Amino acid sequence: MLARKHLFTPGPTNMPEEIRRACDRPLEDHRAPDFPALVEPLFKDLKKVFCTQTGEVLVFAGSGTLGWEAALTNTLSPGDKILTASYGHFSDLWIAMCRDFGFEVEVIEGVWGEGAPVDDYAAHLAADKNHEIKAILACHNETATGVTSDIGALRKAIDGTGHPALLMVDGVSSIASLEFRMDDWGVDVAVCGSQKGFMLPTGLAIVGVSQKALAAADGARCGRNFADFKSMLKSNQTGYFPYTPAVTLLHGLKESCRLLLEEGLENVHARHHRLGEGVRQAVNAWGLTTCAKERRWNSDTVTAIVVPEGADSGAVIKAAYENYHLSLGGGLSKVAGKVFRIGHMGAVDDIMMLSALAGVEMALADAGITVELGSGVAAAQAYYRETR
Ligand SMILES: Cc1ncc(COP(=O)(O)O)c(C=O)c1O
Repeated sequence: MLARKHLFTPGPTNMPEEIRRACDRPLEDHRAPDFPALVEPLFKDLKKVFCTQTGEVLVFAGSGTLGWEAALTNTLSPGDKILTASYGHFSDLWIAMCRDFGFEVEVIEGVWGEGAPVDDYAAHLAADKNHEIKAILACHNETATGVTSDIGALRKAIDGTGHPALLMVDGVSSIASLEFRMDDWGVDVAVCGSQKGFMLPTGLAIVGVSQKALAAADGARCGRNFADFKSMLKSNQTGYFPYTPAVTLLHGLKESCRLLLEEGLENVHARHHRLGEGVRQAVNAWGLTTCAKERRWNSDTVTAIVVPEGADSGAVIKAAYENYHLSLGGGLSKVAGKVFRIGHMGAVDDIMMLSALAGVEMALADAGITVELGSGVAAAQAYYRETR
């Protein structure tokens, strides 16, 4: 029997054929004289995707987690004070990492299902008269709750207080899918990975770095080597890497940027919005709710769906995978068992989404959660037809 697996996790995402072919090549010499011909245009394209003209984009072999680590260790010194907020599994993991590195972390208790609490950030910054806070951390798209935060508003709030701290943003599940404006939002370090909006295999940490963050690196005393911004940038400026790069993935990344820029970033964002809205119409038709508490928090890359009281979202995920080879995202930490997640990120179209929604309906029914079969699919179909 044809054993096709259907990938609707919020990362890894589906890899387009063009990217798969770009990666499928003989290995090559990363010290060859023509290697810069691959790297130099790639960095130009990455800057376009991150919407930065003044910053740099660095690519490390690793994943988003390495990007978090690089952000902290390149710009801060042990004991430095960080302001951040807890509003989901990934914001919490970054907080835990900050503590592991011995930073002093001031945590605003946010709400799971809401975005970055901008007013609270502003109040903490305004109270920090001596500018002891050196970095402000925020997760742009909380993949665990399906919530997108307003980073532009956070920037305005920071500017309103005149606070000089660096702004570091987790854009792992937003960059290359949702609007992300590194320069306009004054983001000093923007962290991404290859396996989400870039539609590549896991294996790259892709990190946008402002000139302010690079200047901070000069005084930052945290230990670092592999993910050192300055040595990476120095080599990149000659068209090379300080050590063996993941060349195969760099070819894939080049193709990914080509696809994104050819479609146009605004169109990429609009496509994700449409796909996400169709999923939300389906959720509504099922009589279920999203973890995102208000419309303004809805993420266009992932929808976290709350199962009815007493039901187990794990049973939905298990039924989807075992019965239909459909991979969905599970509920993480605080929302384990309570939500399941549908990824609508990267190389996805209407028909793919409709098939995923049909699979979800069957899995819900198999898990004993009553939904009218076809109701969500019909709602999404109507929306996709209307907005074609
Ligand atoms: C928002 C967010 N941040 C960070 C990470 C961690 O990235 P990685 O798994 O690539 O290390 C993830 C992974 O899903 C994520 O969704």
